[in-house]
Amino acid sequence: MYIGLESISMDVPGQGLDLRRLARARGVDFAKYQAGIGQEFMAVPAPDEDVVTLAANAAERALRDVDRAAVRTVIFATESGVDQSKAAAIYVHRLLDLPANCRTVEMKQACCSSTSALQFALATVAMDPAHKVLVLASDVARYGLGSAGEPTQGAGAVAMVVSARPRILRLDPVVGYHTRDVMDFWRPNYRDEALVDGKYSLKVYMETLEKAWGDYRAQGGHPFGDFDHFCYHMPFTRMALKAHLTLARLENASHTAAELQAQVEPSLAYNRINGNAYTASLYLGLVALLDNPGLDLEERRVGFFSYGSGCMGAFFGGTVLPGYRRALASADHRRLLQDRRSLEFGEYEAYYTHRVPEDGRDYATPRVTRGAHRFAGVSQHQRLYALSRASAVLAADAGVVCAAAPLGS
Ligand code: HMG
Repeated sequence: MYIGLESISMDVPGQGLDLRRLARARGVDFAKYQAGIGQEFMAVPAPDEDVVTLAANAAERALRDVDRAAVRTVIFATESGVDQSKAAAIYVHRLLDLPANCRTVEMKQACCSSTSALQFALATVAMDPAHKVLVLASDVARYGLGSAGEPTQGAGAVAMVVSARPRILRLDPVVGYHTRDVMDFWRPNYRDEALVDGKYSLKVYMETLEKAWGDYRAQGGHPFGDFDHFCYHMPFTRMALKAHLTLARLENASHTAAELQAQVEPSLAYNRINGNAYTASLYLGLVALLDNPGLDLEERRVGFFSYGSGCMGAFFGGTVLPGYRRALASADHRRLLQDRRSLEFGEYEAYYTHRVPEDGRDYATPRVTRGAHRFAGVSQHQRLYALSRASAVLAADAGVVCAAAPLGS
């Protein structure tokens, strides 16, 4: 029995900031962003987009031709949770009208809880091959206006259906892990922006890659030369390239520089124009690789390195299945990215500083998103999610004042 991805799809906010504008505003040479860190555009969520709406939109696509009645588990991986108690998976479960006989849970370990979610899904399906698991990875990466991390910000979601009838990727059971208690990046409960020791985080990422790879090999994983492509956790795309060169050096790989670049480059395409999406970042890389029209990936082996600050890393592999293209939503993904609105700098600042009131008063979010699901507001301390076209009615039913709150308020 093979277990793996039956489907995969993504969602991104409907707008973002061209990093040329950010470079101008911050007095930085754009080449630093484009060549130095490998980023050109960053996603910026509107006030009515959050991790739930992004995940629900991605899941709508991922479930398009999947038997929803067989989805008995929804795992939501995020570090941008909207509630300290209730799992974001439950909101998505309702928005997607999934079966009531379903397990729903939220997971956290920085950017790599999505990988643990995937591994838990594999184990669940191994125990019950009729069981399908919906794995959601959804995040908003925020570092603060004017911070060193600002050009690496972004947001997005990936939804994956794991089952015993994979059509896209067969996942290998061998995984190499590494965990160490470090403070490279963290977000205390009282902050909505991450604290980060940037240079230290780069060092810890590389050390964790080495250790997780070492464990992967010790557990019987494939040698470096068996892999055709690699996807790395991407806080910014240059990091993936550097990580790959580090791994190749460690393994004394005989590949040329161009060959090594070609093993990673296709996975960078979406992240470069979307930014970090924490838990979703590695899997946006996989979607970009799979969507690449110039590559035939059938029977190709892909290596994955997942990194989550704090820190934990995991290395694992999988093989792309014959006919995988038929199960992809590549045209939708390209359209999503192309149709985004490019924000003026002032709009970016307004979106960035916009907050949901924290004093519990009822509130209706400005209507911005063109996505299927939207965060409509808060009433009696409860978050309201709705289909875009029906959200006004729902918010009104819930007694929310529907006049759009001005941005920045
Ligand atoms: P910085 O200090 O602004 O940048 O911060 P820099 O001065 O180090 O420059 C970056 C690169 O641009 C350098 O290249 C420069 O040489 C080059 P390198 O030497 O490293 O190869 N450069 C130029 N290139 C061309 N033309 C120019 C030019 N000027 C400079 N004119 C930093 C960079 C990544 C530290 C910052 O963006 C940051 O703090 N980011 C956030 C933290 C982060 O992304 N860490 C990554 C590892 S941790 C991780 O991945 C986990 C995470 O996703 C969170 C989670 O797990 O939840 C973050």
